[in-house]
Amino acid sequence: MAEIAWKYEQKMLINGWNQAKWAKHYSSDHQILLVGEGDFSFSASLARVFGSADNIVATSLDSYDLVIKKYKMAQANLQILYNYGAQLLHEVDATRMKLHTDLHLRKFDRIIYNFPHAGFLGNENDQRVINKHRNLVRGFFENASCMLRPGGEVHVTHKTTGPFVTWNIEDLASKSSLALLGCVEFNITDYPGYNNKRGDGSRSDHPFPLGKCSTYKFISSLTSKKSNNPHCNYQQSPRILSNSGNRVMYLSSGDCFTIFKEYFDEAVSMFGETDDHLSYSVRSMLGMGFERVKMVNHVNPLNDYVNLLKELRYMSKRRTAYLQNHLLELDHHRYGL
Ligand SMILES: C[S@@+](CC[C@H](N)C(=O)[O-])C[C@H]1O[C@@H](n2cnc3c(N)ncnc32)[C@H](O)[C@@H]1O
Repeated sequence: MAEIAWKYEQKMLINGWNQAKWAKHYSSDHQILLVGEGDFSFSASLARVFGSADNIVATSLDSYDLVIKKYKMAQANLQILYNYGAQLLHEVDATRMKLHTDLHLRKFDRIIYNFPHAGFLGNENDQRVINKHRNLVRGFFENASCMLRPGGEVHVTHKTTGPFVTWNIEDLASKSSLALLGCVEFNITDYPGYNNKRGDGSRSDHPFPLGKCSTYKFISSLTSKKSNNPHCNYQQSPRILSNSGNRVMYLSSGDCFTIFKEYFDEAVSMFGETDDHLSYSVRSMLGMGFERVKMVNHVNPLNDYVNLLKELRYMSKRRTAYLQNHLLELDHHRYGL
């Protein structure tokens, strides 16, 4: 394993692929939006690893003055982020952010909300309190789902025990056409310098016990027509557009998952295994994709298909880079390389 990882590393160095810096799931190549920050230590942790933050937009619900007052390390963290070139925004409500002046034209590869919580409003087991938290998360998903770049992901880190599981964030995400891509155990040591905060009440600056928690990763599950997501305003030009006769057909980004459904299902089901019939199965799945494109655009399907293939290739390359990085990480943990 170590040898394979070393070869990958050499190859990446030779080919200049190693320029991106990674902090667990996040890369310096991603456009990243952070929502509901406490003392901004998570954003600052990413910035330190990347050695830059011009790909980061870090936001808080609280005003600048309140953030500084609430958290003793906030000013220092904000200064680090500013020095590294991050865009810093305050008074950003996660449930309305798609309309924010500085955000409404932006799209991101990763939108992150760590430990969403509407505040200490009573017993966490009380259904009314749970509903407040669920409304916050639902509103966040509604907005974030409209702010993703092709292949982008929404990440929520959340406790997986007690009343927190009953928020059922997967269900909330699905209401905004977001599908669970994966759920990975959260380990705070992956983000040196990050201090999780209660964020509300007289002990805002205190940490809360993390216990068992995970990062839930969601991707858009939107199907062929953009109008399928009622929460998004799609006035901007779609990325992939073809003209069929006098009708304009849209095969947007995100359609890739629908068109090549079997391809993605296969990739997930054979993860970590080998497939003797790989070249055959990939070809036949791409064929199914073409049949589906023909159903949407029977006049001139080729153009749409080629565009979707390009998108698939882009996603595969990113997936490969992610897996290579993950492999190196595993080696790092196992062998201390
Ligand atoms: C438990 S704290 C977590 C803070 C920080 N993310 C962390 O991991 O330390 C919950 C955070 O959600 C923020 N929050 C609550 N409602 C919000 C909303 N509508 N929009 C954005 N942030 C919100 C609070 O200001 C607080 O910072």
